[in-house]
Amino acid sequence: MDARQVPSLDEIFEQVCECRRCPLAEGRTNPVFGAGNPEARVLIVGEAPGKNEDLQAIPFVGAAGKYLDELLGIAGLAREEVFIANVLKCRPPSNRDPRPEEIQACADYLRAQTRAINPEYIVTLGNFATKFILRTDVGITRLHGTLQRAGRFKVFPIFHPAAALYDSKKRVALEDDFATLGRLLVEGM
Ligand code: URA
Repeated sequence: MDARQVPSLDEIFEQVCECRRCPLAEGRTNPVFGAGNPEARVLIVGEAPGKNEDLQAIPFVGAAGKYLDELLGIAGLAREEVFIANVLKCRPPSNRDPRPEEIQACADYLRAQTRAINPEYIVTLGNFATKFILRTDVGITRLHGTLQRAGRFKVFPIFHPAAALYDSKKRVALEDDFATLGRLLVEGM
C-alpha cells in the first residue's frame, strides 16, 4: 500500500481481527473494533471493552452503554450518527485498567481509525481516552467540559459514563457536558 494513503476502516478492521500484538488477544472472545457512521462528525472514544462488549463485539452495550445513549440524546445525537471506539480493542481480564504496554500495542489502530473517519470532534470518555488523545498527564477532573485541540481535531473530554452510574455529582457534570457538546455542534466553534 502507498504509505501516504490512509487505510480504510475495512482494512483497519481486518488488521484488528488478526492482531496478536499483546496478550489480551489470547483472552478475548471478540475484538471490539468500534461501530457507527464511518463519516461521523463526532468520534466518541472510550477505554476498553467490558464483558458484554467482548461477547457481542459492539462497544458500549452494557449499563454504561445504555447511559451513553441517553447522554448522546442530550447532545442531540443518535448512536448511528457518531462513531464509537475504544483505546483498547480487546477486553482486559476482569475489566482491570489498561496497562501502558497494551495501550502502546493498540495505539496504531485508534490513530488509523481517527484518520479514516476524520471527525470534527473527538469526545474522550474518562482518563485513559483523554490522556491518549491529548498526550497529557492532566486528569479528566480538570479537563472535562473544556474544548481542547489535538492537531486538526477539536477534543472535548467528558467523564466516563461508567464512573457516573453510582455518583450523582459526576452524573450532573456528564449531563452538563453533553448539553455543552450539543451547543458546540449547533453553534460551531
Ligand atoms: N466501557 C468502555 O470504555 N468501552 C466500552 O466499550 C464499554 C464500556
